[in-house]
Amino acid sequence: MNTASQYNATVMARIDIQPRLTIFQVKPDDPDFTFTAGQYTTLGLLDEESGKLVKRAYSITSGSVTREYVEFYINLVSDGALTPRLFSTASGARIFMGARAKGVFTIGEVAKDQNLLMVATGTGIAPYISMLRSHVIDNPGQRVTVLHGASYSWDLGFRNELEELDSRNDGFSYVPVVSRPKESYHWKGMEGRLPAWLENPDLAKECGFEIDPENTHVFLCGNPGMIKDATEILTNKGFKAGKRKEPGNLHMEKFW
Ligand SMILES: Cc1cc2nc3c(=O)[nH]c(=O)nc-3n(C[C@H](O)[C@H](O)[C@H](O)COP(=O)(O)OP(=O)(O)OC[C@H]3O[C@@H](n4cnc5c(N)ncnc54)[C@H](O)[C@@H]3O)c2cc1C
Ligand SMILES: NC(=O)c1ccc[n+]([C@@H]2O[C@H](COP(=O)([O-])OP(=O)(O)OC[C@H]3O[C@@H](n4cnc5c(N)ncnc54)[C@H](OP(=O)(O)O)[C@@H]3O)[C@@H](O)[C@H]2O)c1
Repeated sequence: MNTASQYNATVMARIDIQPRLTIFQVKPDDPDFTFTAGQYTTLGLLDEESGKLVKRAYSITSGSVTREYVEFYINLVSDGALTPRLFSTASGARIFMGARAKGVFTIGEVAKDQNLLMVATGTGIAPYISMLRSHVIDNPGQRVTVLHGASYSWDLGFRNELEELDSRNDGFSYVPVVSRPKESYHWKGMEGRLPAWLENPDLAKECGFEIDPENTHVFLCGNPGMIKDATEILTNKGFKAGKRKEPGNLHMEKFW
């Protein structure tokens, strides 16, 4: 099969957050593509040299009831095999998109009375945006915090949407954290890397709940270094990662 015939979707729109961070809205030819909020699928483009399709996994940011397109939030890795090609596509470009969504980084069986702490670095915010847009976590009495870490304030994608949700919902908190504040002029919010915040008692004030394994589930997504350090801290607090037949209260999605 030639590659062009493997293209089964169209880039409908791009929203550039900054030159290295872009939201892609992709319409699959198959009108019946479905997913659960938190899942990912693959995107792919032809490598002209090898003639092969280069495919990578991307978490979906759109809400699961949106039918017009499937949305992704993607970071440019300058020497990467796929993202430089992806960033050179314009609206209307044909692309490969996986036929099925995959993954278990979903709300699944988490009880509706559990507090949720959703921790992300960079584009790791993607699955939480889908969960929020899909309304899978706005249960009465449940408190939800999104803790988003980025190097610079201008890397905080979806900030307006999350700030608006925070201002409209008593049970929801958006806590952005910038790790290179000296270069992020005018930044007056929290500073540092996320694992240090997980050890800081002040985090509970920002969340409106204690980070307690008795009544909280923590989700971690993005940079594997953050996930490793955060897992160590949270395991020491009594959180447990789930296993195949034994669900835990610590959920992880490593992007690389
Ligand atoms: C389940 C899953 C979901 C993912 N969802 C997203 C997503 O929503 N958005 C997204 O941008 N990426 C996501 N990724 C990462 C994505 O699959 C690719 O690895 C990434 O786009 C780089 O592809 P590439 O071919 O350009 O680089 P490659 O040639 O594959 O180079 C990979 C190297 O790039 C670096 N890298 C990979 N991903 C990232 C990243 N996101 N940020 C910074 N550095 C990175 C790492 O050093 C890695 O070793 C996800 C990965 C997985 C496994
Ligand atoms: N963002 C840019 O403008 C830019 C520019 C050039 C190259 N890049 C490259 O693009 C890729 C993605 O960059 P990104 O900024 O989106 O994602 P990232 O490198 O994963 O950084 C996102 C956030 O995670 C933090 N972080 C990084 N490693 C960590 C660790 N081991 N433990 C805890 N926190 C950690 C970063 O802190 P720190 O800020 O302290 O690292 C930052 O706050 C990287 O490969 C990067 O080298 C990005």
